[in-house]
Amino acid sequence: NPSTPVSIAALSQHIGQTVTVHAWLTDKSGKGKLQFLKLRDGSGFVQATVFKTDVSEETFEAAKRLSQEQNVTVVGEVRADERAPGGVELAVRDLSPTAEMVGEYPITPKEHGIEFLMDHRHLWLRHRRPWAILRIRDCVQRGVTDFFHSQGFIRFDAPFFTPNAAEDTTELFEIDLFGEDKAYLSQTGQLHAEAGALAFGKVYTFGPTFRAEKSKTRRHLLEFWMIEPEVAPSSHAQNMDLQEAFVSSLVRRVLTECQEELGLLGRDMSKLAGAAEGNYPRISYTEALEIIRTHIEAGDLPPNVQPDVQPVEWGDDLGAPHETILGYHHDRPVMIEKYPAAIKAFYMQPDPGDARVALCDDMIAPEGYGEIIGGSERIHDYDLLRERIEAQGLPLEAFEWYLDLRRFGSVPHAGFGMGLERVIAWICGIDHIREAIPFPRMLTRMSP
Ligand code: 4AD
Ligand code: MG
Repeated sequence: NPSTPVSIAALSQHIGQTVTVHAWLTDKSGKGKLQFLKLRDGSGFVQATVFKTDVSEETFEAAKRLSQEQNVTVVGEVRADERAPGGVELAVRDLSPTAEMVGEYPITPKEHGIEFLMDHRHLWLRHRRPWAILRIRDCVQRGVTDFFHSQGFIRFDAPFFTPNAAEDTTELFEIDLFGEDKAYLSQTGQLHAEAGALAFGKVYTFGPTFRAEKSKTRRHLLEFWMIEPEVAPSSHAQNMDLQEAFVSSLVRRVLTECQEELGLLGRDMSKLAGAAEGNYPRISYTEALEIIRTHIEAGDLPPNVQPDVQPVEWGDDLGAPHETILGYHHDRPVMIEKYPAAIKAFYMQPDPGDARVALCDDMIAPEGYGEIIGGSERIHDYDLLRERIEAQGLPLEAFEWYLDLRRFGSVPHAGFGMGLERVIAWICGIDHIREAIPFPRMLTRMSP
């Protein structure tokens, strides 16, 4: 029945049939008696050919008048064509444009700068590159849900307005609550996820988080999506096992389901093989400093690291170039554990073997993508946690509910946070995180 619409992705199941496709025109060429229409409908891309001798005069003229991104209903015969993407072509019998265009479509097939494209993000989304990246994002999101549910976790939604700072207090967005108590946009769902873990055993949050990042980098958004599993009881070692199982499952899923998208992006898929496998190296912060120093002294640096990079003194945090150096010699993510407690968050459990360091880890993606996960075992001792909150100058009253989790039935527990856009940027092999989310929010971008 030609009046039943078929999606472009499903055309290969209709070879030899005449079908209706609702689509947009991405490009057009041809002359004389033949027009080639490049169509997309969100599910995929297909070429339609219009032969003057196969269609009415009006249809042929309508095809010639179609403009880029105009919506059109096409009736055509599905033909197998090995050279075509998706293996099919449409031989047009009839077509009708849906609405006239109002003005000129701004994104032409010529090259545009990134700021121009981002200004037109609401339209740019229709083009192939965003199409590929955001479908991979969807694949990863489904992978997150399936992984945690297969492991017995429940999804547990943390609030977006919170009474507490939890990470760096200089990166807090404060909300005006009509002059009453302070509230903030959530930097992390972790504290509430801990309440969830003590209630449900294994939970994960999955939602937007907000950080007032004042620096412009390729890795920072003001609003990003984070996945934060939390398990009680659990340990630092079990937490790292979970991270590795989780990230490798996501990479396997994208490699299986998104061949076409990765291909469109020109991604070298062999670079993801190690990450899909597991066995991520685990290196202590202290060892990592030695590795960094050795590479710097030998002048053995990745091409994108400045030659004047300095080694890290014990106690200082790693910078982006240091993470790049650490990731450079591995074909899969590496996990750096046991950072100095003083440079990490207040809630991290100290290492019983060396109280100067915390039972925490960061997962560093290869190819210079940097930190994709931060996680730790949490302080379970009431007195110690209280002391840490006070030592950080945080307001105790706002943390009374959090301290209740240590007053009543406390147990060692652990969790981590994975930044969705960081992981997508790495898997897709794109050089800026802004393309990994439909509408990025950055210091320099609040629109569209
Ligand atoms: O390392 P972070 O700050 O850890 C936490 O928030 C913990 N509460 C997580 C937990 O244990 N439940 O952030 C976690 C991850 C980072 O590794 C990074 O991938 C991502 O969140 N991230 C950002 N992504 C995009 N833009 C930003 N401004 C980000 N800040 C952190
Ligand atoms: Mg971190």
